[in-house]
Amino acid sequence: MSQAPRRTVVVLAAGEGKRMKSATPKVLHPLLGRTLLGHVLVAAGAAGAEQTVVVVGHKAEAVSAHLAEVAPAAVPVLQAQQNGTGHAVRIALEAVPDASGTLVVLNGDVPLLRGETVAALIEAHESASRAATVLAAAVEDPSGLGRIVRDAAGGLSRIVEERDASADVRAIREINAGIYAFDLAALREALGKLSTDNDQGEEYLTDVFGLLVEMGSPVGVFVAADAEETLGANDRAQLADLRSRLRDRVNTAWMRSGVSILDPATTWIDVTVTLEPDAVVDQNSQLQGATSVASGAVIGPDTTLIDTVVGAGASVLRTHSIGAEVGAEATVGPFSFLRPGTRMGRKSKVGGFVEAKNAELGEGAKVPHLSYVGDASIGARANIGAGTIFANYDGVNKSRTTVGEAAFVGSDTVLIAPVEVGPGAYVAAGSAIASDVPSGSLGVTRAQQRNVEGWTVRRRPGTVSAEAAERAAQGRGEVSTAE
Ligand code: UD1
Ligand code: CA
Repeated sequence: MSQAPRRTVVVLAAGEGKRMKSATPKVLHPLLGRTLLGHVLVAAGAAGAEQTVVVVGHKAEAVSAHLAEVAPAAVPVLQAQQNGTGHAVRIALEAVPDASGTLVVLNGDVPLLRGETVAALIEAHESASRAATVLAAAVEDPSGLGRIVRDAAGGLSRIVEERDASADVRAIREINAGIYAFDLAALREALGKLSTDNDQGEEYLTDVFGLLVEMGSPVGVFVAADAEETLGANDRAQLADLRSRLRDRVNTAWMRSGVSILDPATTWIDVTVTLEPDAVVDQNSQLQGATSVASGAVIGPDTTLIDTVVGAGASVLRTHSIGAEVGAEATVGPFSFLRPGTRMGRKSKVGGFVEAKNAELGEGAKVPHLSYVGDASIGARANIGAGTIFANYDGVNKSRTTVGEAAFVGSDTVLIAPVEVGPGAYVAAGSAIASDVPSGSLGVTRAQQRNVEGWTVRRRPGTVSAEAAERAAQGRGEVSTAE
């Protein structure tokens, strides 16, 4: 048995992507959890290459910094001037002079490409011992793309860029996807012969195919089973189109694995998210980043979860959450905001119009209504009354508040941190608590109530309130205090 050749990957990412009209390089635009380049690198991983070179140029620093984050093993190589895709590959190969075997080249702007397709392209290329194989696709609208020109026998004869093509060639709807496998020795030889004799005055990688044919080397076409995978994004309208296609692909895969997605058209799930079977995602929800949702949990409608971990059987309704953990069978919302460091225990509750940040809720703890919970630890089964504010910031420093197990904090309380309410303690509604409330005690800071009798009729005569007070007085058989 012959051994598989060694493999190297080159990703072309030096172009500006002018038609994006963006300060951000095209390959760094995001698409459901990864950049365009990030998606391509993941697909390229299926090549099983020993080394990956990424050609950077336009905003090279930003692209290299992104690479260091998402693919630290990939080597960025600078193409200072973007003199064409052939020139880019030539420069990339200077960085890996010892590479031999198969070179896989990918454009950096084809985010829907699947790893399986990369692997199949390589398999077709290597098993036929070709000098070069191009990934092609038959498309409805080939405009702007290189066309695959075949000879009478159906073999590849050359690839022609649209701007250099005759009317006949422009009519061809089989296009070059910008993804290739090459035999490195043959490629090196052909790259040395590239001219810039074309409409753009650039070195075209695609010209390698015609040169290899002239040299009598075997070249071939591998047709993608799913043309969608070869779509590139040149402007933001195309990017939006790719985004909705990827959304459908991701949603379909989750539904097939047992997740209920009630309205796939309005549900946007990053490729980095994980969901367990029997999770339910209701309409108009976005799940992003490192979010995970366990079995039986119900998310949405109208919910955004970013880097949020949701436990089994929990419910998160009309909520925005970032960097939070929602425990099993816990409930959140509607209309709440969970911020980083919120950790909700099992069966705990964050109800309507609550903001929580850096806050731990023990098992069964409840913050049911209209509260701000910042920098807090709330014990199991504690109850935080409506409108409670955890005042964590004195204008300079942030401090923590601790509420003990099964403590009961009355409505409209301010807990002024740092402060501690002990286990089983009560706080009277409307209190401003700046000193600790010991376990089992009642903390109360309200002023004594004083009622000024007959005030409304005397001081607000003629108002609807005064009339109501007079009627109430007559009903009690009292004499009106008005003249
Ligand atoms: C290229 C192909 C075309 C194919 C299309 C598929 C050539 C000459 N043409 O055209 O046949 O149908 O892709 O999308 O290759 N890049 C560099 N350095 C450069 C030039 C480009 O790194 O000097 C990178 C770009 O960042 C991009 C990729 O190469 O990721 C393709 O370049 P682009 O200008 O988009 O080529 P197309 O005109 O689309
Ligand atoms: Ca392109």
